[in-house]
Amino acid sequence: MNLTERPRRLRKSGFLRELVAEHRVTVNDFITPLFITEGRGIEVEISSMPGYFKRSLDLTLEHAKILRDSGLKCLLLFVQVDDGLKDNTGAEALNPDGLMQEAVRALKRAVPDVILMTDVALDPFSSFGHDGIVREGEIVNDPTVEVLTAMAISHAQAGVDFVAPSDMMDGRVGAIRAGLDGTGFYDVGILSYSAKYASCFYGPFRDALDSAPGFGDKRTYQMDPANGREALREVSLDIEEGADIVMVKPGLPYLDVLSEVKEISSVPVAAYQVSGEYAMIKAAAAQGWVNEEAAILESLLSFKRAGADLIATYFGLDFAQMEH
Ligand code: PBG
Repeated sequence: MNLTERPRRLRKSGFLRELVAEHRVTVNDFITPLFITEGRGIEVEISSMPGYFKRSLDLTLEHAKILRDSGLKCLLLFVQVDDGLKDNTGAEALNPDGLMQEAVRALKRAVPDVILMTDVALDPFSSFGHDGIVREGEIVNDPTVEVLTAMAISHAQAGVDFVAPSDMMDGRVGAIRAGLDGTGFYDVGILSYSAKYASCFYGPFRDALDSAPGFGDKRTYQMDPANGREALREVSLDIEEGADIVMVKPGLPYLDVLSEVKEISSVPVAAYQVSGEYAMIKAAAAQGWVNEEAAILESLLSFKRAGADLIATYFGLDFAQMEH
């Protein structure tokens, strides 16, 4: 054939493919979620997330050192509190001696160089399992934003580096920014879950934290999976309100959104490969239907290709322990 272009020339060998590769994943890209539960000496595998554990704080500290030594430098903290501590306003979320606040202080001592981020939303503290305050069956926006702001300040007082509001209330990024600045925490950053969709792929996470909504679903605050353009509106608002990093969530089913967000964002963009995505890969691999390492690497690479600067993923340690 008389071809002027032969793209296969650049695929001839492994070295050559590496030479021309457009994207790379490294451990420096990862945010590693941690599930922390009350008690001591507890390490429980999450049944819908094989290979992933929730731990009491003492064992979390040990694990954090392993992560740090593996190059995982950024941790995103989630807590599971006892049901008896839950109420409609999430009062426990503001307890200066609550599990999250304790965890931040203890991790800052154990792994001072690691970047700590905390989840800011009411669901782990809500008797209704919703991300906000419930009134007459509705999740009310503005009163919720007040609590989220106080929660963010409380995490800042404990020493967190970034707060990560995952609730999708309107105006919360601006309110949190003002609250942090007003209390002198202008150095504490905000990683905003800007485009967080109402997704079935959070199922295993809700198992892990026992935080499934007690009634209804989250579709009046999390985004409709039918909408792409709306994500750009959410992201623009969050950047205007002071977000330092914006995030799209879930990951693989929303790569189109990620790529569009990257086009318009003036701040770093994160993707969250959520619990259900982890579970799908683990489950298929356990059946021998896909190669686990290859599936992990390919999925992570796809986030970089779509434009992610950072990736929140449960595969951080698996990745760090692979040869690649
Ligand atoms: C809580 C929160 C959720 C996740 C992160 N923060 C669940 C939800 O919104 O119901 C999901 C993470 C995952 O599935 O990996 N606001």
